[in-house]
Amino acid sequence: MSDAAKLAAIPTLVNPPADFVAQANISGMEAYRALYQTAVNDPGAFWGGLAEKELDWFQRFEKALDWQAPFAKWFQGGKMNVSYNCVDRHTKTARKNKAAIIFEGEPGDQRIITYQELHRLVCRFASSLLHLDLKTGDRAIIYMPMIPEAAIAMLGCARLGIPHSVVFGGFSAEALKARIQDLEAKVVITADAGWRRGKEIRLKDAVDEAVKSCPSVESVIVYKRTGCDVVMQQGRDHWWHVLDETAREDVEAVPLDSEHPLYVLYTSGTTGKPKGILHTSAGYLLQATMTMKWVFDIKESDTYWCTADVGWVTGHSYVVYGPLSVGATTLMYEGAPDTPAFDRWWRIVDKYAVSIFYTSPTAIRALIRQGDHWPERHKLSTIRLLGSVGEPINPAAWEWFHRVIGHNNCPIVDTWWQTETGAILIAPMPGATPLKPGSGTLPMPGIQPQIVDNAGNPVDDGKEGYLILRTPWPSMLRTIWGDPERYKEQYWSKVPGAYFTGDAARRDKDGYFWVLGRVDDVMNVSGHRLSTMEIESALVRHPSVAEAAVVGKPHEITGQAVCCFVTLKKGIGDHEKLGVELRQWVAHEIGPFARPEEIRFSEALPKTRSGKIMRRLLREIVTSHTVVGDVTTLEDMNVITTLAAQHDED
Ligand code: PRX
Repeated sequence: MSDAAKLAAIPTLVNPPADFVAQANISGMEAYRALYQTAVNDPGAFWGGLAEKELDWFQRFEKALDWQAPFAKWFQGGKMNVSYNCVDRHTKTARKNKAAIIFEGEPGDQRIITYQELHRLVCRFASSLLHLDLKTGDRAIIYMPMIPEAAIAMLGCARLGIPHSVVFGGFSAEALKARIQDLEAKVVITADAGWRRGKEIRLKDAVDEAVKSCPSVESVIVYKRTGCDVVMQQGRDHWWHVLDETAREDVEAVPLDSEHPLYVLYTSGTTGKPKGILHTSAGYLLQATMTMKWVFDIKESDTYWCTADVGWVTGHSYVVYGPLSVGATTLMYEGAPDTPAFDRWWRIVDKYAVSIFYTSPTAIRALIRQGDHWPERHKLSTIRLLGSVGEPINPAAWEWFHRVIGHNNCPIVDTWWQTETGAILIAPMPGATPLKPGSGTLPMPGIQPQIVDNAGNPVDDGKEGYLILRTPWPSMLRTIWGDPERYKEQYWSKVPGAYFTGDAARRDKDGYFWVLGRVDDVMNVSGHRLSTMEIESALVRHPSVAEAAVVGKPHEITGQAVCCFVTLKKGIGDHEKLGVELRQWVAHEIGPFARPEEIRFSEALPKTRSGKIMRRLLREIVTSHTVVGDVTTLEDMNVITTLAAQHDED
């Protein structure tokens, strides 16, 4: 079949396969609608009932929700512990010898950790934290490769009520430093290095660089992963395995308030400074738990694999907390999908009989490019459900995922959510919802998204508008760490009284949601959020740069790519050399994953008369190569004409 024929053959509505419906946790649309309606009728009773049934409590809560808009408190009066719910409770059941984590390292090493063993490891690590004098309320930074110890560190912190912030291993020392400082972390948990494409990613070196200017850090715990040489600073740095020698195994989970901070995850906003999104305990865990059941249809016998890194929210909710809370087997793979060859993922699927596979459209597109012969070498017969997250999935990627990986009989759950929402808010229930490729379909129970215009009025079905939520949900962010004013301003002021997602969307006549992308200055590169302002701030810190404007440019594989327009200080020449240097500079300042695709030099940037850079026009240039939008506020039209002409020469 030609590509065009394949695309034309994508059905507009894909019903769940009958055998899937027959075994599903939520079976058929009637069941979905009934559940949804129960939540609409009485949200407090709905979530309260689930919290009681699905979580283990040391002390029952008194009230489901206390809503002092925009600040929510869920399950007040209750005492619980996330680590207890993810680990201990399963050791008291037949799950105790079930695999909690299946791990495969990039070099091919393998570990299978049962719930009982996970309990032992988490207790021992918590004991090490206590030994270093860490207490409930102190903060930890976790900067680790994708190895079980990343999850163990998270669960060890949660056990003691030490809020953690996981920093993705692809962030630079500079970015790490900013996060340690903002959180005033007392401990940094890291590894010597991790494996990626056969190379050692040296994490400890970056930590050494970062903590030089982080006076809050008293201890650094280092897990030996690759065995490379590292410098250990006496008194501050401790090997994980040395601490472990004297660790105890009877460290009880601390009973914590439902609203005790579980973690802070930094994400890009519309300014140069990342926002520390705060998630708390019971509500967060409840919604991660429920979506595992509703969206991933999780069963006792599943081997579940979400390919996200623990450094992103998907890794928190759907590699660690959600799957472990429901007692599932979660798979972690350390390395790159193309190492040693482009079928590494499919090898892993067959080896461990993966049944649920959750990844991103970017990864799918990158694999499509390598050809079907890679997946065709493997059976992939154990997969029963596929998932996608991070950006809208385009029809070609959907079709390939469904046909080549799902063999035309696995539903695809396209899950819309954000770092801020904590859990999936819009997605199909795979045994109920007929799919429309490209749409996240329908909201989860308890979620009532709306699409509104600039004035906050609902728009008609079929029309584009802003995606908002008017009512709180248990896994919502509680605030921006240390900055409640920014929280109010960023999320609750655009449409008064409503949470603004920053996304544009439309709803079709069947009530299906189609998320179209960001409407703010946030780019989505490979499903990761990058702020235009953050990259601009990094660029203007370079001594040769006078001004910079950054926009997202459409990209075949990564969805968007970073495109920078730069003006240089007087007398600086050799653009070619500087282009390479500036790309490297951004990678150094933020992290290799933020490295710009393109640097364009310009004599001037388009500005309003009041001096504001008009990124909208630059976006038009990189997207459609011309400017057709409103230019009445532009100060100097020549700038745009020159920039557009520059492209034509390229
Ligand atoms: O624009 C939406 C897009 O990713 C943004 C959230 O990014 P982040 O906080 O990094 O979390 C990514 C993983 C949850 C959203 O505002 N997005 C995420 N999932 C989808 C999506 N856009 C369309 N469809 C999706 N399924």
